[in-house]
Amino acid sequence: MVIKRVLVTGGAGYIGSHTCIELLKEGYEVICADNFTNSSTVALQRVEQIAGRPIPTYTVDFCSKEQVKRLFELEKIDATIHFAGHKAVGESIEKPLMYYENNLVSLMNLCEALGRTKAKNIVFSSSATVYGFSESLPLTEETPTSAHNAYGRTKLYIEEILRDLAASHPGWNISILRYFNPVGAHSSGLIGEDPNGIPNNLMPYISQVAVGRLEKLRVFGSDYDTPDGTGVRDFIHVVDLARGHVAALRKLRENPGYMIHNLGTGKGCSVLELVRAFERINKVRVPYELVGRRPGDVAENYADTSKAKKELGWEATHTIEDMVRDTWRWQTRNPHGYKKIQDRLPAVMFKPINPAYLPKENMRFIVPSGQPRQQEVPHPPANR
Ligand code: UFG
Repeated sequence: MVIKRVLVTGGAGYIGSHTCIELLKEGYEVICADNFTNSSTVALQRVEQIAGRPIPTYTVDFCSKEQVKRLFELEKIDATIHFAGHKAVGESIEKPLMYYENNLVSLMNLCEALGRTKAKNIVFSSSATVYGFSESLPLTEETPTSAHNAYGRTKLYIEEILRDLAASHPGWNISILRYFNPVGAHSSGLIGEDPNGIPNNLMPYISQVAVGRLEKLRVFGSDYDTPDGTGVRDFIHVVDLARGHVAALRKLRENPGYMIHNLGTGKGCSVLELVRAFERINKVRVPYELVGRRPGDVAENYADTSKAKKELGWEATHTIEDMVRDTWRWQTRNPHGYKKIQDRLPAVMFKPINPAYLPKENMRFIVPSGQPRQQEVPHPPANR
């Protein structure tokens, strides 16, 4: 089976944008689809700048069956990498229905559209959150799964839906990638993580403290049964993670059916170790205070990565030093993330006034049927 044209849903997001670059580097054609509610068109402009190639881009609401169908009518797709989805644990506890509706409906619409094609190939972005409070370490793909919030449950449900789908027809090839803790940024400093509001995750919090946007880090828990008492996680450089997707895509060519792989480094690093590495490598201070544990946190969490190494021929190569260095480069070059540029976009999006802030020229909207289609801006037709 030939896989050439890859649809990346959520391609403007943190992991999606880095994956687009690695795909382009490997000679794939990338088609990006995003709803841009939690991501910036600027990220894709930067990806195009790094790759030196345009990326056909669609604004798509994946919860709209109609829009997803239309996308697949417009583009011939050989495989799909599905990143699009809500991902904040805390928000999912407050708004579980929003998480179930968005993450599950969009997955089903996508699979329905894929099912009508010959290219039933999908890589799904899952998470180590599916291991719940497991105490047996390292976490292997065989470790029992459980979920403790709506976000984690959507990941688990989707894994199960995809398992059923794979069993239903031999044409399906499905790769589930369970990410550990993605951090870092592209070495160019042009793209990186740009969380909305105050970050929930550790690394963006550290870098926003270091750059002066936040006063100090609160270290949640210093009495865990870990070497320094703080939580231990398997931090993985986002570029390694992106390359894991390329490796999974390569494997799909062999018609594997359904497969699950951990993407981590296999090494644990504590919260304080990360803070100290950040200070040492970047020569910057990160003030912090030790506070109580955060509800729902496990003490320690790291991957067994041997399955990905054996079956995908993939392993992480970036060190903690690379992760903190690249994060800092991104943060210092973009102290306000993409926002500053985004804020200066003209009020009527996609009718640019100043080309410097041009939303992507090759952007198309998918417009629901029954509505005027003049928003669909033509771009060169797909090579069929
Ligand atoms: N932490 C702090 N202070 C902060 C933020 C985090 O001390 O301000 C600590 C946490 O308590 C934890 C560690 O840093 O010990 C890592 O926390 P993150 O929030 O960065 O990451 P989590 O491990 O909690 O969760 C991440 C993703 C989830 C995913 C999970 C998979 O956010 O979506 O990894 O293992 F499910």
